Amino acid sequence: MNIQKDYSLKHHHTFGMDVKAALFIEYASVEELQQLLSQKQLEEGRWLHIGGGSNLLFTGDYLGVILHSAIKGYEVVEEDADEVIVRVGAGEVWDDFVAYTVEKQWYGAENLSLIPGEVGASAVQNIGAYGVEAKDLIVEVETLEVATGKPRTFENAACQYAYRESVFKHSLKGQYIVTHVSYRLKKKPCYHLDYGNVRAELEKRKCELTLKNVREGIISIREDKLPDPKVQGNAGSFFMNPIIPRTQFEALLNDYPLMPHYEVDAARVKVPAAWMIDQCGWKGKHLGRAGVHDKQALVLVNLGGSTGEEIIHLSEEIQKSVFEKFGVRISPEVNFI
Ligand code: EPU
Repeated sequence: MNIQKDYSLKHHHTFGMDVKAALFIEYASVEELQQLLSQKQLEEGRWLHIGGGSNLLFTGDYLGVILHSAIKGYEVVEEDADEVIVRVGAGEVWDDFVAYTVEKQWYGAENLSLIPGEVGASAVQNIGAYGVEAKDLIVEVETLEVATGKPRTFENAACQYAYRESVFKHSLKGQYIVTHVSYRLKKKPCYHLDYGNVRAELEKRKCELTLKNVREGIISIREDKLPDPKVQGNAGSFFMNPIIPRTQFEALLNDYPLMPHYEVDAARVKVPAAWMIDQCGWKGKHLGRAGVHDKQALVLVNLGGSTGEEIIHLSEEIQKSVFEKFGVRISPEVNFI
């Protein structure tokens, strides 16, 4: 177990603020986590479990315990001619896992290439991109209960997945820690190319349709639009795409016939926050050291030395503009700590 006092979190979150944790604990096995939970330290004090820190905004030093998983490993637990189920340690880097599936010629995770973060968080956050979400692949999620240290496995349905949502973010928030996630992947070609500009990117590259080429195409789309957190602090999409009633969407479409949208169900439509923020003129603008990325209006960036408060101030001004122009409330996808 790695235990550090007064520990800088600069390299454990992607916004790049130099904040500290009173205590940082990294465990490497289920047994180590059980040992930690049996000490009841977490029940009494403030604690936060982090993954790659790609969805966090710290507003100051963290006066409690920051936990991080270093549970690693891939293990094939079931396999037949069509499918494979692979069980992965929560502390594996998500994109390393995607690279591994592509190398093995297993289909399903390639559209989620280059999403920052770790495997444990993929199951909590239901990460998604280009028409695929983690929930489409997850078979089950193994956890330990914080109060008792007892293992509990959640089948996919018990995780109550929805767009960027799961039971671990709501009714069971803070009660379970993910130790392993099992994903189902296909052994026969099965691509998802009809979302956004994925197909166009592949056509532009004039390459053969292979898993490796789809992964490379997705990586190139992301690299063109999303700033590298090592160069400019950011947490990917800062806001979620709001889901609004169809009646409201139809009224908006009258005023903005070019408004992009994604169908959800008969009563609801998802509209891109990026488009609305862009229409409000925020793209490339900044307030102090907090900025709106110039290639993707959904991404807020630390222009150098920004505090969490400055980013929050900018985000509130953006929310206000979007509400005034479109009557739509947008909410952060990023967690404020
Ligand atoms: N758009 C603009 N201006 C911009 C950016 C986008 O008008 O500055 C328009 C685009 O033309 C498009 C629409 O807005 O019509 C949507 O944009 P885009 O396809 O770039 O994706 P998004 O809805 O902004 C979501 C996810 C991303 C994911 C992409 C691709 C959320 C909150 N974000 O972004 O996830 O990579 O789709 O599937 O759902 C993340 O969560 O951190 C993340 C990057």
